[in-house]
Amino acid sequence: MHTDFILRGLGRHAPDRILTNADLETMVETSDEWITTRTGIRQRHIVSPGEGCTDLAYGAAKMALKDAGIEADDLTHILLATYTSDYVIPQGACVLEEKLGVKGKIALDVSAACSGFLFALETARGFVALDRNAKVLVVASEVNTHRANFTDRATCVLFGDAAGAVVVTAGDPEDGPRVLDVKLGTDGGLGDLLTVKGGGSMSTYKEGEPVRDDYFIQMQGREVYKHAVRNMTGVCKEILERNNLSVDDVNVLLPHQANLRIIEAVGKKLGVPEEKVYVNVDRYGNTSAASVPLALSEARDNGFIKKGDLVLLTTFGGGFTWGAALVRF
Ligand code: UT7
Repeated sequence: MHTDFILRGLGRHAPDRILTNADLETMVETSDEWITTRTGIRQRHIVSPGEGCTDLAYGAAKMALKDAGIEADDLTHILLATYTSDYVIPQGACVLEEKLGVKGKIALDVSAACSGFLFALETARGFVALDRNAKVLVVASEVNTHRANFTDRATCVLFGDAAGAVVVTAGDPEDGPRVLDVKLGTDGGLGDLLTVKGGGSMSTYKEGEPVRDDYFIQMQGREVYKHAVRNMTGVCKEILERNNLSVDDVNVLLPHQANLRIIEAVGKKLGVPEEKVYVNVDRYGNTSAASVPLALSEARDNGFIKKGDLVLLTTFGGGFTWGAALVRF
């Protein structure tokens, strides 16, 4: 039986604290001019002491549930896409379940770095395909700034903290935006170009030992840049082709917000005019898995995405991981 996958509600949450390029100038040898011309980033939201991944996730989840008109208790599944969960155990999705005041759901963390949201969305579609009554909360939340090395100017200027959320159910087109297709890909052979190794079971720490550089995000920026452009462009072409759609059918291109130059290059290679490409990297920086659902919620609310629009989402991240999704609003 054919199932339509509906985004019943959208939500987002960013912490109040803001770190500007001028602030970063006082922390590392950098300049507002370098950061804006190389990345397009002007500021990023960052957590305050005591604020964690599931706090941001909770804010986005509450907004998405309200938008969907669904109580947390009606959910069947809670998926959290993140690489910066509060703890190793308990998993973040369980902490979020507790914060939402509910029990007995299937709560699951999904890890695919910056592509985590699309991997979780596809997992949600799987749950809905298994059970048409499933109501799946998909949240992507990241506290990147706790894994950014604020002595490494090449990476610390890039990242911010935020969360985005959707509620996925079966339904009819009039129930909300329809997820038409999702296409994912990975290449473990290129994993070493973008890593956060410390804290994993391959790196042991003795009590009192300071964390080493591998605890933080390490990236070969130029290489990652090239693969990001190539893979996002490629997967967008593939998903359009297998749905018999052309670039001209796309009303809004919403790419992972890592770097304005990457976003512009993907748009240009695909042939999507600039005015159809959604950009908020200037205000949030790279929020990893949160970037696409955060931008999706914002773009719907500020009118950039209109009813009837075909929206093409695309992500790229460590692993490597990448993906694209087509959503009819
Ligand atoms: O979300 C997952 C995917 N991640 C990404 O998509 C990020 C992909 N990579 C990028 O966005 C870009 O490669 C960066 C923004 C990270 C770097 O831009 P770039 O144009 O590739 O610069 P670069 O790394 O080649 O560095 C150019 C110069 C270097 O100096 P020299 O060797 O030319 O003298 C760097 O040391 O810029 C220097 N530099 C900086 N200067 C001022 C690097 N970081 C900074 C900085 N401020 N923050």
